[in-house]
Amino acid sequence: MPDFTAEAALALTRYRSETLQYAPRLGLLDLREWICEFLAEEGIKASPAEIIVVNGAKHGLDLACKLFLNDGDCVAVTAPTYFTGIPIFRSHGLSFLQVPQDAEGISIDFLHREIKLRRRNGQPIPKMIYDIPDFHNPTGITMSPDRRRQLVAFANQFDVVIVEDSPYRKIRFGGPTFPPLKALDDSGRVVYLGTFAKLLAPGLRIGWVVSTAESVARIAQLKSDGGSCPLTQRIVFEYCSAGKLSQHLDRVSVEYHKHRDIMVAELREKLPQASFRVPDGGYYLWIGLPGIVDADRFAEAATAKGVEIISGTRFYADRNIAYPENRIPGSDHIRLAFSFASPTQIKDGIGRLAEIFHQPH
Ligand SMILES: Cc1ncc(COP(=O)(O)O)c(C=O)c1O
Repeated sequence: MPDFTAEAALALTRYRSETLQYAPRLGLLDLREWICEFLAEEGIKASPAEIIVVNGAKHGLDLACKLFLNDGDCVAVTAPTYFTGIPIFRSHGLSFLQVPQDAEGISIDFLHREIKLRRRNGQPIPKMIYDIPDFHNPTGITMSPDRRRQLVAFANQFDVVIVEDSPYRKIRFGGPTFPPLKALDDSGRVVYLGTFAKLLAPGLRIGWVVSTAESVARIAQLKSDGGSCPLTQRIVFEYCSAGKLSQHLDRVSVEYHKHRDIMVAELREKLPQASFRVPDGGYYLWIGLPGIVDADRFAEAATAKGVEIISGTRFYADRNIAYPENRIPGSDHIRLAFSFASPTQIKDGIGRLAEIFHQPH
C-alpha cells in the first residue's frame, strides 16, 4: 500500500479550505487535468470537461447505466464477466446478453449473429456492451487490436454504447500494449471507467468516468452525493503529480509478477490437471478444473481450509446460457487472485486446493 502521510498533511494544512468544503461537481480541476495527461499517454484525448471524478469505477458503472439505459433494456457482457458488475446491472432492471470470449476477447461474430436473430424475433438488442479489454476479470484475457477495432465498428453500426472498464491496464508484467477502446472512438460512444482502486488503493474510493462533455454534465446531475471527497482527491493528486504513482506501479507490478509466477509454478506442480492461460498482467488466474462439477462446493471447502477463492458460477450474469454437458455455467471453474497473498500463502493455498481437488467429489 502507498504511504500518503505527507500528502494527507499537506491536504489538511495548505489545502484545508478546499479539502474540507464540498468539491466542484466534476471533481478537483487539478486532478481532472492530471487524469487527462495520464490518459493522453494511452492515446486517449480528453479535456477536463469530459471527465467526472466518482467514488470508484463501480459508481461510474452505476451512473453510466442510469444515464444510458432504462428498465427492461439489454446489456451485453462477456461470459464470464466481473461479478460485482452483475448486481449493478440488475438494479437497473436490465436483461443480459452473455457473449463468449476467445483468446482475442469478446466474440464479434456472436454479437452479429445474435443481433440478426433478435431483430428477426422482435427481441431487444443490447444498448450497451460492458467489457474489460485489458487483463479481463476474471479471465485475464487482453483483447487483440483487431478485435478492439471490430468492437468499436460494431457499436457504431448498431448504435450501442460501450463501457470500457479499465482497472488493470497498468498492472502489466509484459506483452504488447494495445490502444484502449476509448482511443479508437471518434463518435463519443465509448464510456471509459478509470479507478485508483488498483493503481493505488481500493479504500480511496476515487475513480473517474470519461465521456462526452454533454454526457459528463448529465452524469453530474444524476450523481447525488454532493461531489466526491475533495480531501481524498487532493491526496491522490499530490501523490500522482509528484511522480510517485509511476514508482508505486513499478514496485507493485514487479511484486505481482513474482506472485503470478509462483502461483503458476505451484499449480503446475501440485495441480497439473488445472487448465488456465497465463495473463500478462492484472490480478487473476481463471482456472478450469476438469471433473469438478460444483465449483460453489469446491469454494466452500476451500474457505473451510482458510483459502479464499471465488467459484466460477458467480461470474455469469445468468444461468441461461449453453454450457458444456448442460452444466451450470462456471461450475468447473474457479478464480484465484495472486495479488494480495504473500508467496508463502500462495504456496500453502495451492497445496490446500490440491488436497481438496484430490478428495472424492
Ligand atoms: C473489472 C473491475 N472493475 C472495477 C473494479 C474496481 O472498482 P472500484 O473502483 O469501484 O473499487 C474492479 C476491482 O475488482 C474490477 O475488477
